[in-house]
Amino acid sequence: MTDIYAMGSVTPLLTPYKIGNLDLSHRVVLAPLTRQRSYNNVPQPHAVLYYSQRTTNGGLLIAEATCISPTARGYGDIPGLWSEEHVHAWKPIVDAVHAKGGIFFCQIWHAGRVSNTCYQPNGEAPVSSTDKQLSPQPRGSGTEVNTFAKPRPLSIHEIPQLINDFRLAARNAIRAGFDGVEIHGAYGYLLEQFMKDKVNDRTDEYGGSLENRCRFPLEVVEAVVNEIGAERVGIRLSPYAEYLDCGDSNPEALGLYMVNALNKYGILYCHMVEPRMITVGEKGECPHSLVPMRKAFNGTFIVAGGYDREDGNKAIGEDRADLVAYGRWFLSNPDLPKRFALNAPLNEYNCQTFYTSDPVIGYTDYPFLDDAAASPM
Ligand SMILES: Cc1cc2nc3c(=O)[nH]c(=O)nc-3n(C[C@H](O)[C@H](O)[C@H](O)COP(=O)(O)O)c2cc1C
Repeated sequence: MTDIYAMGSVTPLLTPYKIGNLDLSHRVVLAPLTRQRSYNNVPQPHAVLYYSQRTTNGGLLIAEATCISPTARGYGDIPGLWSEEHVHAWKPIVDAVHAKGGIFFCQIWHAGRVSNTCYQPNGEAPVSSTDKQLSPQPRGSGTEVNTFAKPRPLSIHEIPQLINDFRLAARNAIRAGFDGVEIHGAYGYLLEQFMKDKVNDRTDEYGGSLENRCRFPLEVVEAVVNEIGAERVGIRLSPYAEYLDCGDSNPEALGLYMVNALNKYGILYCHMVEPRMITVGEKGECPHSLVPMRKAFNGTFIVAGGYDREDGNKAIGEDRADLVAYGRWFLSNPDLPKRFALNAPLNEYNCQTFYTSDPVIGYTDYPFLDDAAASPM
């Protein structure tokens, strides 16, 4: 079959799109990417360059997972948004993205049981829906293995506090200048530990039925919508993922239940991870599709997971998505939209430096197309 997009003449990814009141000039979104370079949870000046390198006029960027509170931490050097210091530290980063015409959402996150006592206040146990401990998991290049502590299930009386932490983090994101927030409801972290029946073993009103398991995530959505307005709220979901031992017996029912419930709040977008993604980076054959969720959801639908230029164009061209988020290719190609426009070759990504703490190497040193043209042959 001929690839109609290969010559660069038809590139649905490069067509404009209106998301709420915001005008996007193209549909290539920067996916949220944890980089663990925010020392002591404070966003650093080197992130100014990193994000502005990936900014285009009218492009949408989603910032890396950002902790809503000290208990939200699951890895080292993740940025936070619970203190004034964090708000001030984010501001120059957000300003740099805006100065180049980008639209910038912050992903707000709680790791739940994907944590260890060393990241928790007073060395306490991490919190979750359950007390089921996560087994050690490979990370990055696969040679690194993370271990996790046995979690403590949240009592029903503590849940309002967690909801409030999400609300305050959303408020802080807006104070830092972000255009909105993406609630992290994907990939096995706290909100998914409630949604998915292979992890959630509660017997109270936050466990058992689908409605009960989705209650906490939807209460978070409601609180954040009330705080900053539905037009500034997106959510990320991965109903099919089994990442971090967080699977569900009926992912399609879960995905459909969530998008239908989200419609009631009128949020800006739903960002879903493709069922073909077995882990964060491993793509498999898969009979399932996100089309039922795309059809049921009233707002903007963003897809992510294993996309390249060709199937991103197909997803937009066939109306299976409004926008496509790119993770690893955007990490290693700061000018990804331009490369897609020109159908230019891509830099390979180096998974050895995904989570290392160097402020330059594997972070802001991936070359632009122009650099290649300028370098001697
Ligand atoms: C280094 C790295 C960090 C990531 N951090 C996050 C994150 O903070 N939040 C999130 O929702 N997903 C995160 N992901 C998942 C990506 O957003 C994306 O869904 C995944 O890489 C699949 O898309 P891709 O095939 O385009 O890379 C991360 C992935 C990688 C490789």
